Amino acid sequence: CNSRTTEKKFLKYLSRHGDIKKHFFYESYGIYAVVEFANRESITSLLERQTHQTNSLANSANHKLPLQSMNSYRDCPKRRIDQQIISLTEAYQLTEENSRLRFLVCSLLKDIAAAYFPECTIRPFGSSVNGFGKLGCDLDMFLDLDGISGRNLKMPKSGLSLEYQMKRANSERAVTQSILSVIGECVEQFGAGCVGVQKILNARCPLVRFAHQPSGFQCDLTANNRVAMKSTELLYLYGELDQRVRCLVFTVRCWARAHGITSSIPGAWITNFSLTVMVLFFLQKRSPPIIPTLDQLRDLAGPADKSVIEGNDCTFVSDFSKIPLHSNTETLEELLHGFFEFYSTFAFSRMSINIRKGKEQNKPEVAPLHIQNPFETSLNVSKNVNATQLDRFVALCQESAWLFQQIETNTPRGLGGNDTSTPWGLASILLPLNVAGVKSRKKKRHEPASERIKSLLESLKNKNHQKKS
Ligand code: GTP
Ligand code: MG
Repeated sequence: CNSRTTEKKFLKYLSRHGDIKKHFFYESYGIYAVVEFANRESITSLLERQTHQTNSLANSANHKLPLQSMNSYRDCPKRRIDQQIISLTEAYQLTEENSRLRFLVCSLLKDIAAAYFPECTIRPFGSSVNGFGKLGCDLDMFLDLDGISGRNLKMPKSGLSLEYQMKRANSERAVTQSILSVIGECVEQFGAGCVGVQKILNARCPLVRFAHQPSGFQCDLTANNRVAMKSTELLYLYGELDQRVRCLVFTVRCWARAHGITSSIPGAWITNFSLTVMVLFFLQKRSPPIIPTLDQLRDLAGPADKSVIEGNDCTFVSDFSKIPLHSNTETLEELLHGFFEFYSTFAFSRMSINIRKGKEQNKPEVAPLHIQNPFETSLNVSKNVNATQLDRFVALCQESAWLFQQIETNTPRGLGGNDTSTPWGLASILLPLNVAGVKSRKKKRHEPASERIKSLLESLKNKNHQKKS
């Protein structure tokens, strides 16, 4: 809330949009209000106005998640897992309000960075905008200085112009580090609601990490990270080509998080980015393929699509209508089952995953998991993954594939059978599985994402009971 607004005035303003049921005000680096309207329509009316839109209200709009639809297809066995996958995706994908909030945080940060670089821009990338983001995912931002450095601009032939110059530095990396260092300092000193600022400047990709308290986002700010912007565009394109892509990536990400295969803490786990590339590769390997290879997308590119970043060819077509698609009619259930089977038996010890070619290639170097970076082709995006983590992934794929087979045989350990009190279908593969080595992560219980999955399962059970009674 605007600090000059009184509680009374603010509530009076809001009540123009409908009756207020409950409210409370609190202070945390500013004044905030949580308000519950008697009717949902009031939120719509308020959001249309927008002038007093607070983060709390934006978040409250997230509560209309369509969890109730998860079990409503139970009587239609053919489509039931497909519907669960769609419901899971709808319930946890970023809402429009949440996406807007992400752009808003970028623009707030731009105001800070503008103290040094007046015409810079800050763009979101990664899962905030690639179509695979889950509510609560981090906000990856890119400080774009190209507009002011003149590198990409044609300078006027005459007239005066103002140029910024970097002092001599040893390398472009050193420049990036010093830019992030000053911006990091600014965010720490003056960024309203920005806390826990860490400058991680020696990472392969230097970054400033902080929490933006008012929005609740964990933020990573990078500079000079154009290849990541391109991979975000590529992932977005794949997600748009066929709606099964987004649903499948989303479900595999949720499954991996529920079993502690991925983690918000950096370490030897598989990252969401690697996992996404694995799903894309699997979809390229279907017969007929569901999505084209990156080489095919490059061959379809027009002159305006040409992009070479630091010597890496990042060209691919941007006109979706030029991309021919095969008529693959597999269901989401078949694909998810297929994904688990595919990676249960994949020759990880010898082969590298390559979405550029759409074919596995011999590993160019020793690493338990080798996934070729789509644009910087000499790099392995899963270099961090150790053998234990890869083994856990394979074991969980095997167990999940086995659980899927039980649909057909309908054994007591199957996917829920007709007993509506136990989780069934997709819900059963999101529950802890009894796989050797898989329980080794003791902290699993404390991880917020698994908590969320658990509460989702609880809500499914409750719906079942309600339906029964
Ligand atoms: P979550 O944040 O886990 O939801 O997913 P994310 O896709 O945003 O991943 P992350 O925040 O780790 O990385 C942000 C973006 O940076 C990714 O979407 C990729 O575009 C890019 N990226 C991350 N890791 C790598 C990597 O190892 N190699 C390359 N080339 N790009 C990466
Ligand atoms: Mg991210």
